[in-house]
Amino acid sequence: MAKVSVIGLGYIGLPTSVVVAMAGHSVLGVDINPKTVETINSGKAHIEEQGLDELVAKTTKDGSFKAFTTVQPADVYLIIVPTPFTGESKQPDMKYVRQAATDIAPFIKEGDLVVLESTSPVGSTKNDVAKVILDIRPELTGKIYFAFCPERAIPGNTLHELVHNDRTVGGIDEASTAKAVEFYTSYIKGDILQTTSDTAEMVKLTENASRDVQIAFANELSLVCDDLGLDVWKVIELANHHPRVNILQPGPGVGGHCIAVDPWFIVASSPKNTPLMRTAREVNDSKPNWVVEQVKKAINEKQKTEKPVIGLLGLAFKPDVDDLRESPSVTVATTLKNSTDAEIMVCEPYINHHEIFNLSPLDELLEKSNILVMLTDHSEFKNISAEKLKNKIIIDTRGTFK
Ligand SMILES: NC(=O)c1ccc[n+]([C@@H]2O[C@H](COP(=O)([O-])OP(=O)(O)OC[C@H]3O[C@@H](n4cnc5c(N)ncnc54)[C@H](O)[C@@H]3O)[C@@H](O)[C@H]2O)c1
Repeated sequence: MAKVSVIGLGYIGLPTSVVVAMAGHSVLGVDINPKTVETINSGKAHIEEQGLDELVAKTTKDGSFKAFTTVQPADVYLIIVPTPFTGESKQPDMKYVRQAATDIAPFIKEGDLVVLESTSPVGSTKNDVAKVILDIRPELTGKIYFAFCPERAIPGNTLHELVHNDRTVGGIDEASTAKAVEFYTSYIKGDILQTTSDTAEMVKLTENASRDVQIAFANELSLVCDDLGLDVWKVIELANHHPRVNILQPGPGVGGHCIAVDPWFIVASSPKNTPLMRTAREVNDSKPNWVVEQVKKAINEKQKTEKPVIGLLGLAFKPDVDDLRESPSVTVATTLKNSTDAEIMVCEPYINHHEIFNLSPLDELLEKSNILVMLTDHSEFKNISAEKLKNKIIIDTRGTFK
């Protein structure tokens, strides 16, 4: 069993740390955020994820997992730090990955394995990890192993999927691939698919860009159906009876740290060849504004008879999680707040506090609002009775009340 250093203890790094520790390795987690480290070492998870609190408590108590604010020497280093894009230009921002590589360089010894798990543009394992480390430690050239192994876990079921999903593992050379496969075999129950680091990087981006394009199709369809007075949910349901058609569901847009970000890495790498992926991003990014326009029409309608009170259901980017990153629900809420005088109530059961909005309990929101906007289809919202929806204008971006 190895000493494993997980660099970045966020939504993926923390669950990875505990499943690796549960497999018998000794995990030395690292995060630059001291509060995160303190919370973990007190036996708690700083993020909401089913089953995570229990496993953090167990592994920190039995000593198989400990968190630090600085890198500790290990045999395997997993880099799981953010990979956002920069502002308007939508270029990948690899500064966190390069910093993590710089931070671990002084500790690496002959025979160690360094794996980049952060979703990254093609060439990153070679250029932003291996080159950065070997520039600092040239004497280790050819003596350490570098690989890329992306995550596929879904928030809400991360712990299960981290272990049971198939994984693509690609080294910068064959020896690196073999070394990485040996490590992942120690805790992954799904198939481990071997390739090169460049291909593995492209595979991850392809998975997310594919989802984005398909969701954009559903979102565009929802606008067309609205224009034609048709029920998009019915159209999709009936079309999906075709044995070779499988249209996804529309929504208020696309959020999260992955699908809303990663297609830009492909577009940035080959701008001339990616009109479809760029347009899909633009279609999905424009959907929250369309929802805002629907709400404004409802406000004008309500104003004729009573004072409009908007009830917004959900801020998270997907159901049953507390993750608000890139969330279209947040875009709708903040755009409405900045562009209307109407009273806005927000219910988000997965967080206790929001910087901009006062959060309301569901019952109070249902009682006081007369325009109800379903943004994030959390389980709690799916059982709202028809009685409680009476006399409200409903804007249902998820088809929950259909
Ligand atoms: N969240 C998901 O569902 C998901 C799924 C698949 C892939 N990914 C990819 O995984 C990567 C990480 O995503 P996440 O959601 O876990 O991000 P996150 O923001 O939740 O966590 C990243 C952590 O890294 C820490 N960090 C940043 N720089 C550091 C450094 N130099 N040393 C130590 N810690 C550092 C941050 O403080 C933060 O706690 C991203 O590339 C993302 O695209 C995420």
